[in-house]
Amino acid sequence: MATVPAVRTREDTGAIAFSVNGRSVVVSSPPSQRLSRVLREDLGLTGTKVGCDAGDCGACTVLVDGDPVCACLVAAGQVAGREITTVEGLGQSQIGARLQQSFLTHGAAQCGACTPGMLVAATALLEQNQTPSESQVMDAIGGVLCRCTGYRKIVTAILSGQSDALAEIHPEAGNAVGQRVVRLDGKRKVDGSEIFGADEVPMGALAVRAIRSPYHRAQFHFGDLDEFVSAHPGIDAVLTAKDVPGKDCYGVIPPFADQPVFAHTEARYRGEAVAAIVGAPEIVEALDPATFPVVWQELPALMDIDEALAPGAPQIHAHREENVLVRGRVVRGDVDRALADAEITAEGEYETGFVEHAYIEPEAGFARRVGDGIEIQACTQSPYMDRSDIATILGIAPEKVRIIPTAVGGGFGSKLDLSVQPFLALAAWHLDKPVRMVYSRTESIISTTKRHPARMRLRAGCTREGKLVALDFAADFNTGAYSSWGPTVSARVPVHASGPYYVPHYRALTRAIHTNLVPAGAFRGFGVPQAAIAQEQLYDDLADRVGMDRLEFRILNALDNNTPTVTGQVMGEGVGIRACFEALKPKWQAARKQAAAFNSNAVGPFQRGVGVAGMWYGCGNTSLSNPSTVQIGLQRNGRIALHQGAVDIGQGSNTIVTQICADALGAPIARFDLISGDTAVTPDCGKTSASRQTFVTGKAAYMAGAQLRNSIIALVKACECARILFEDGHITIEENGNRRKFTLADLPLDQHGYVITAEATFDPPTKPLDKDGQGTPYAVFGFGAHMAEIEVDTELGTVRVLKVTAAHDVGRAINPTLVEGQIEGGVAQGLGMALMEEFFPGKGENLHDYLIPTAGDIPPVESILIEDPSPIGPFGAKGIGEQAVIPTAPAILNALHDAVGIRLRKIPATPDRVRAAILASQQGDRRG
Ligand code: FES
Ligand code: FES
Repeated sequence: MATVPAVRTREDTGAIAFSVNGRSVVVSSPPSQRLSRVLREDLGLTGTKVGCDAGDCGACTVLVDGDPVCACLVAAGQVAGREITTVEGLGQSQIGARLQQSFLTHGAAQCGACTPGMLVAATALLEQNQTPSESQVMDAIGGVLCRCTGYRKIVTAILSGQSDALAEIHPEAGNAVGQRVVRLDGKRKVDGSEIFGADEVPMGALAVRAIRSPYHRAQFHFGDLDEFVSAHPGIDAVLTAKDVPGKDCYGVIPPFADQPVFAHTEARYRGEAVAAIVGAPEIVEALDPATFPVVWQELPALMDIDEALAPGAPQIHAHREENVLVRGRVVRGDVDRALADAEITAEGEYETGFVEHAYIEPEAGFARRVGDGIEIQACTQSPYMDRSDIATILGIAPEKVRIIPTAVGGGFGSKLDLSVQPFLALAAWHLDKPVRMVYSRTESIISTTKRHPARMRLRAGCTREGKLVALDFAADFNTGAYSSWGPTVSARVPVHASGPYYVPHYRALTRAIHTNLVPAGAFRGFGVPQAAIAQEQLYDDLADRVGMDRLEFRILNALDNNTPTVTGQVMGEGVGIRACFEALKPKWQAARKQAAAFNSNAVGPFQRGVGVAGMWYGCGNTSLSNPSTVQIGLQRNGRIALHQGAVDIGQGSNTIVTQICADALGAPIARFDLISGDTAVTPDCGKTSASRQTFVTGKAAYMAGAQLRNSIIALVKACECARILFEDGHITIEENGNRRKFTLADLPLDQHGYVITAEATFDPPTKPLDKDGQGTPYAVFGFGAHMAEIEVDTELGTVRVLKVTAAHDVGRAINPTLVEGQIEGGVAQGLGMALMEEFFPGKGENLHDYLIPTAGDIPPVESILIEDPSPIGPFGAKGIGEQAVIPTAPAILNALHDAVGIRLRKIPATPDRVRAAILASQQGDRRG
């Protein structure tokens, strides 16, 4: 590491006076400085979020003299003498305050990263028009992106924002589960006080900036780094691989860990870090990276699966032959014979591309050294996994690393992997100064994980009556340069590629293949959404060949409690897939009729279609232990401290886990103090992924709540039937018509500082899979089915989704509003995957070129909640987070086939591909 004492410089600044939220301010800033920057960094108004700094996301929307503008595109000098309103000031007006309340009660804020921009844009509309139409609302928020909610609850909240507010529900003790409780962390999300990764900076923090490879594959060497530091006053240090004191190798799955903090001599993908500059923020940010002393030698890169598998291809990792990271396999019965004997068969080949997570909050955080330990505050989905990897990198004990998760502005899987954390840890460790790192949007896109591109081939057979007999499925996943979650995708997909159907003869083989592209990792569904795109379209083809209604085909083949899955698991109870399909049946029949009527009277180039697809998804890790531990303590003030390490990334686990625990204990949720995430004060609840927090952490919370109740009952020697009333400073026991009051201050404290502490661990009961993938990979599955109604412009190739009806078996809807929010958000992401989203490394590394659905793209979503309880889940609950995204894309693609008779082999169905396929099919028809 090269270092010199820091020297500070400053650009010319001027005094700029304006008003913010009714308060006059004067800032000393260059007139060209972005207003968003001035608001956040100079005035501490961090409610205004920055998602792109380019006018693409709208997260930074503020009012300037009442007009909504992107604060990242406005120069500070332009607002001299003007009135600015940010989210922090909205509550000062009745319109703004009512709207904030409406967002809360309608569940319109999930992660909350878009919420300030949405609220500000909507306030501007409502100030002009308090009874807007839906299309006016859509227009008003059209420039603000949301990746979590699917926009529908936002639109509803705005439309009803000035009518009498929906009352908040405050359930009585024992009555929280099943209620539409307002999210417990919601207020901070609507008033702008929530702290995300970039929202806190320790005094005097230095900035960290990574130098990244501009090439997909390149060798490199550094020039004189000491001279570089000396020549740049304000730069404190340059860090490289030589500065990693521990093991320079990390990864989310330890046996496959392969990623260095900094590439050593060869960068394996475009965007890989080779060095980091640490210094005064204004100097580090202003530095032209082209002046950094590194010499690149571009090398031929493996850009796709075929190149990686070609004989003689360079091996990206020496120990992984043929660039195969890992293989997955599930085999049952005799698939070759069954297919040979099948009366009806269908086959297909499908390809999907990289999909970018596009959460609104880019990765950010800060770190400081504390003695011989390190503290990192950053956005993350997996604090304990981060702790372990940072300890390895620094070569210190895990207990010396404290991870403090901030609010997470969307994760969807990508924030399971390390991003800013290792750079922050190394800089703070070596310099013993607080350091901060905030990714730009482009940096986030080029360096963080993506959904795996998949290439899938499959063949299925059924009887003349439509009974499935066999499926042969093979898939290669482009896992990029490092392993990340490639092994998980390869293992999970073969278990799920049958869909939620009984398939007696089955073979699913997968491979994760390394290329010189950005690592592919976890993204809502771990490969299952890609597999469902192939398998659900193939089953439609089979149904057509049988001459059977496509929904009836699915109902006929749906798993039930007593049929074995493709791994031989018989669940016995809680298999709700048939109920999901049955719930769609009347709507399916009506929608099919409507589409047929529309098409027979169609004028112009429009054709309508209806598609359906099913889904199943195992909650938690595949055949691996994934425990959660929850601790709760009764405090002397009569409140209950709930220590749970699950990170709420917007899905609502803070609220759901509390609802479950409250009912198990028999206390109102208002009595709870929630302590979440921080590795120093909460036990390990595992990672927020794989739809496991409601199920696994929820079950641990249930057990801890029940245990605390039992301990209190034992302490006061009451009967099991007793009712415990938690009150300020005391508890009252009611039994057999008698009341006994206990002053908590009179009782001794235990080693945790509570009157009584209860702790419980739950690890879902699974069994390992054998060499053929037979076993019990998951204790609980969630099930669902979506129906999509679409309209195709056959001349332009555009597809408009008119409505999605989504039936999900969630076991028990602990909080229906939050469950619906997951479904609507999943539908939006599935729609994006079906119709518009594809990332090409090296191109379009921003939110201008990489398109995600806007409010105007999302149709009405009708959620149907089926509650076929899990015998294991808390109050019968199953997961919903990943489940919600899986069936949307295949339902849309099946609707596309229904509308215009085309099957696209390459997804997404962008207008050019749709138009080309329509033309090809018309030419085929003419030839034919
Ligand atoms: S940060 Fe200003 S539009 Fe994205
Ligand atoms: S709630 Fe809109 S981006 Fe998360």
